Amino acid sequence: MSSFYVTTPIYYVNAAPHLGHAYTTIAVDVMARHHRQRGEDVFFLTGTDEHGEPVADAAKAQGLEPKELADRNAERFRALMPRLGVSNDYFIRTSDPRHGAKVQEVLQRVHDNGHVYKGLYEGWYCPRCADFKVENEIAEGNRCPIHEIELVRQQEENWFFRLSTFQKDLERLYADQPDFVMPRERFNEAKAFIDSGLQDISLSRGRLTWGVVVPWDPTHVFYVWFDALLNYYTALSFARDGEDLTDRFWPATFHVIGKDILKFHTVFWPAMLLAAGIPLPEHVFVHGFLLGADGRKMSKSLGNVLDPFEVIDRYGTEALRYYLLRDVTFGADGSTSFDAVRARYEGELANELGNLASRTIAMITRYRDGALPEAELDPSIVAEFDGLPDQVSALMDRAELTQALETIWQRVRRLNRYVEEQAPWQLAKDDARAGDLDRVLRTLAEGLRAVIVLLSPWLPESSVKLLDALGTPDLALSGAALDGGRVQRVSPLEPLFPKPS
Ligand code: MSP
Repeated sequence: MSSFYVTTPIYYVNAAPHLGHAYTTIAVDVMARHHRQRGEDVFFLTGTDEHGEPVADAAKAQGLEPKELADRNAERFRALMPRLGVSNDYFIRTSDPRHGAKVQEVLQRVHDNGHVYKGLYEGWYCPRCADFKVENEIAEGNRCPIHEIELVRQQEENWFFRLSTFQKDLERLYADQPDFVMPRERFNEAKAFIDSGLQDISLSRGRLTWGVVVPWDPTHVFYVWFDALLNYYTALSFARDGEDLTDRFWPATFHVIGKDILKFHTVFWPAMLLAAGIPLPEHVFVHGFLLGADGRKMSKSLGNVLDPFEVIDRYGTEALRYYLLRDVTFGADGSTSFDAVRARYEGELANELGNLASRTIAMITRYRDGALPEAELDPSIVAEFDGLPDQVSALMDRAELTQALETIWQRVRRLNRYVEEQAPWQLAKDDARAGDLDRVLRTLAEGLRAVIVLLSPWLPESSVKLLDALGTPDLALSGAALDGGRVQRVSPLEPLFPKPS
């Protein structure tokens, strides 16, 4: 059985969960569920990034110890997962001592392999990014391009990682593996960063105590980014009691991240793994940013923030899952708004999919007492569904979640047109056309079954309800082919996407 290991970034506990966090996590959940449908051995990891200066500073401002703040906020992220319908296999917290011990083990190896030295670091530092900025990353007025705050000049004695010695290795990686970073635009961005010449980077902090202690120099803790990146690797060694999953799932198949943390995942991370002698992940997929309705960065002060909990309260979890991956092409930036959620919910989920399901079941109930007679499927529809599961899989293999969803949705629309074209209510009036009616009803039932199996990663609850009503609970992707003969008897179905009260 092939394995599929997929991760989200681990989220900082200095802020509350928001739409951006929900977005990445839902996307990864869709990927994990799709690969489970393929019968693969899947592991889906998410969690929280708890060390470092941003968390220590936020705790201090609230009069708390960093661990207290971390405990409180990590719980909010953990509680987010079931609300989003997310099926993660483990939730890692980097304050877990088992993570710390493994980080020490790996980075000690990097040290022993000769990739670490002590030096003096001076540079422009963003405390919110916990990152020293290089020249082309400094915005006007000496500001952080992400947080728009003024950078601070910092100088300190640090342990350094010899990133520069991996220049050739990374060039070769990018030459040999054009799908290491996806989409292409992000690959080019990472490659340009490498081509501009790599400088050594700081590996430790001397001033901070909230972190993983450097084993060969206990007056330092590791720079939070290395501690954080290593979560993807360390989690496998302790996620299951008494079992080490590393051999089963490493290297990771996909790290999914937002474009704000590209450099860490596409440059620093592979270099660090090479230095430790650990195999590299297969792909890093970089998605874009969700923006406010006005196309600007979402911010509370601009009042353009889409609150995921408001969407869930009004339209349900699946509306949020569907909307986010439908309205904004996964990989690109896009604006979001409550009105756009409503339009997708009413126009597509309720009127297209919801209607198709309720009409199909109602007609089989009314005209055939709920029992579906044997009949050949309509060849025109069979042709249009031909190869569909493979097409969807191929798109999902490249994390093209929006295109995959669109490919399935075209069939939802096709089936609705088929109802209109065939007008089963007319056929039902004429006994001589009973065979035609059987064919139409069977084609609709099987088409509906196929689309809902394919849609189940996006709409996990609705698909269970609908497949239940069709009497075919199997979610396996192999069953999404339209070869007929599966649905035998339908049972009543509550509206899948009711009008919100
Ligand atoms: N802790 C680091 C990641 C360490 S991974 C080893 C971090 N955390 S974060 O809490 O700031 O989360 C960043 C991630 O949240 C982004 O990479 C992205 O996945 C998601 N998003 C945050 N804001 C976002 C938007 N406005 N739009 C889309 N996703 C965004 O960085």
